[in-house]
Amino acid sequence: MNALRTQAGRSATPNAPLASALPRTKSDGKGIPMHDNDRQTKHLSDYAPADYLIDTVDLDMRLEPKRTVIHADLAMRPNPQAQADGPLALNGEGIELLSIAIDGKPLTSDEYSLTATGLTVPNVPTAPFVLSLETACDPEANEALLGLYRSNGAFCTQCEPEGFRRITYFLDRPDVLATYRVRLEADKETNPVLLSNGNPVEHGDIEGTGRHYAIWEDPHPKPSYLFAAVAGDLAKVSDSFTTQSGREVALNIYVEHGKEDRCDWAMESLKNSMKWDEERFGREYDLDVFNIVAVSDFNMGAMENKGLNIFNDKLVLARPDTASDADYAAIEGVIAHEYFHNWTGNRITCRDWFQLCLKEGLTVFRDQEFSADLRAGPVKRILDVRNLKSRQFPEDSGPLAHPVRPGSYIEINNFYTATVYEKGAELCRMLQTTLGRDGFREGLDLYFERHDGQAVTVEDFLAALSDATGKDLTDFMHWYNQAGTPELACSLDYDGQTKTATLNVSQILPATPGQPNKQPMPIPLRLGLLGPNGDDLPLTLQDGTELGDGLLEVTEREQSFTFTDIPSPPTPSVLREFSAPVRLTLNLDLEQIEFLMMHDSDAFNRWQAAQSYAAKLLTDASRDRYDPAPVKGKGAERLAKALALTANEQDLAYAYRAEMLKLPSESDIARELARDIDTDAIREARETLRATIGRTIHGDLAGLYEELAETGPYSPDGISAGKRSMRIAALDLLAGSGMEGELERAAAHYRDATNMTDAIYSLLILAPYDHPLRDEALEDFYERWKDDALVLDKWFAVLARSPRHDSVEIVEGC
Ligand code: PHE
Ligand code: ZN
Repeated sequence: MNALRTQAGRSATPNAPLASALPRTKSDGKGIPMHDNDRQTKHLSDYAPADYLIDTVDLDMRLEPKRTVIHADLAMRPNPQAQADGPLALNGEGIELLSIAIDGKPLTSDEYSLTATGLTVPNVPTAPFVLSLETACDPEANEALLGLYRSNGAFCTQCEPEGFRRITYFLDRPDVLATYRVRLEADKETNPVLLSNGNPVEHGDIEGTGRHYAIWEDPHPKPSYLFAAVAGDLAKVSDSFTTQSGREVALNIYVEHGKEDRCDWAMESLKNSMKWDEERFGREYDLDVFNIVAVSDFNMGAMENKGLNIFNDKLVLARPDTASDADYAAIEGVIAHEYFHNWTGNRITCRDWFQLCLKEGLTVFRDQEFSADLRAGPVKRILDVRNLKSRQFPEDSGPLAHPVRPGSYIEINNFYTATVYEKGAELCRMLQTTLGRDGFREGLDLYFERHDGQAVTVEDFLAALSDATGKDLTDFMHWYNQAGTPELACSLDYDGQTKTATLNVSQILPATPGQPNKQPMPIPLRLGLLGPNGDDLPLTLQDGTELGDGLLEVTEREQSFTFTDIPSPPTPSVLREFSAPVRLTLNLDLEQIEFLMMHDSDAFNRWQAAQSYAAKLLTDASRDRYDPAPVKGKGAERLAKALALTANEQDLAYAYRAEMLKLPSESDIARELARDIDTDAIREARETLRATIGRTIHGDLAGLYEELAETGPYSPDGISAGKRSMRIAALDLLAGSGMEGELERAAAHYRDATNMTDAIYSLLILAPYDHPLRDEALEDFYERWKDDALVLDKWFAVLARSPRHDSVEIVEGC
């Protein structure tokens, strides 16, 4: 069921071109390999402040598709933090230098030197000076989508991390903060819209030329990677937001003409984000306008340029018939993510790119919390943990394992990874868990107050949290510096004589490339002990400490915690809420797991128990070679019956019950098996278990399916989406049962669908079968959407992900 789910609540991380991580060496012809300057490994420990600072940037961009000329006046001065009497070295790439002057005086060609990656001026004044540059670039030929490029006839920029140097020569590093004034000039007919960061201050026509201009000013100092400009013929959808202090902010979303009716959800998500950040973190927006532009050519999910966020259009455009609930959730999450960067990333930015997690981890954490607050919280946690385990854990255990804050890199573009983003967010979550919600908020308040307008480090972040709360976070740095997923091996001993239960914990820190030995980490471990009736027992440590919230702090390699007054052997619920990004090992038998699945008061662990139960059956059935017994027998039936009970539990959110009904994916099982993976056996096992469940609780599933039939118009809210999700989860198990009429039910679901969610998931359920009903549905979808690229992508995804042996041929034949 997860096949079509885009990752909600985070910006898409790129498919980093791994080949470019390798140093490119070139030879000087004498057999000695030379490293291209920019390809050398960069080390965090080599950080030095820039020799010069740039206080203001005045840009004049004369936009032409094939040759754009840019005039830049940079007000510069030597950096008092550095001993700058040396040359001024600026970054620049793929641009042509037309002229250069200092304080209005042109430089002669022997007063500067140019290379493929920059410009050096050996002698510059020691007093503040203005460097004037005129450069040219070719947006039309720019296929890297970095710097100034063209998308669908519009001009667009992308500067993170090192794209500004493709616009003009610059100190293109995040610790050089300047205020910007930008004048854009372009042909008026083809580019009626001219946008840059900040507030609009002036616009007008240039008489007799057919051209016009607009001037934008951004009063907030920012690093060059947050610069953006857009020009083109775009439609605009507008709204407004009044901030907590009563300022009115104009909100605009710019899209291709004809797509205006797909912007409502993005706009609503933006307003919700602005409100939430005020309420939860006290953060208010700081400009008169907030603009979002959706473009079809964008390498990543979206970009947080100050006051001018640029999005891949699939993360903006939604209408009930074109976008699924998962798309709606992804849009909500990414709109929030980019907006939240305004404080975590923009107002306070990174000193250098080693600190990328400082803005990304924290901002992902914030968007996760936002989505959790707006929707069923535990379900969001389940989705986030699934995402972490399926994308980040493999990274952490493979050859590309790297710390959340790496100590060195060759190419920063390759470090926009699940480790920096998702594990980075988990570190922030652990900090919140450790300090408590209020403590974490106080720490962040201090961070914002202390560092507003600065470019800072992870150490600065931890220092603010520590200073505000009095908590020593020195050892927490290990989480940022040590790669790899810790294994947390736990066991519980019960002593009937003393009525005590002892939890033994050891943390095993696997070696990763370049890090053979590691320090033990502080691990917040949330625990519950269930008594015989399934209730949580009060937790009192031997020294008398009462653990109201069940939170243990593991700090040593080996540690034991003994609880008193435990009348009989309890069932342990360990790592509640998934309180740390670790691999938990704990030996529980199927009966104990079933008990947790029925009674655990922690929603996350209750779901985890259902997954573990199914995973145990599935791994037993597919280890070595396929053995149907575990997925057909008593255990499978017990699982089915337990699932039926939770599925009918009225107090649980629909979205949560739906997650309970979903079996672990084939890759979940593969990860669980770790080695000697037989994919056919896994598939066979999973299909068989699906059929067993579908048959055993057929009546319950069919009942729920009928009961939840959609009435009324589509609404993307969490509760409505939860009902659809639940109904589709039931449909999936029913279809898998192989029982008479069930394939027809799925086909009817497709035919009756009045929204994309119902259409695409029923198509996904049908796709593996060799059946005319499947062909009919696929054909119908294609005919309906063949002219809509975003929607057709979903059709391709259904085909490509369908577990048929002929999937590749089918997609190739399309
Ligand atoms: N900073 C963007 C985000 O996470 C991602 C991004 C990185 C976009 C690099 C483009 C280039 O919000
Ligand atoms: Zn981000």
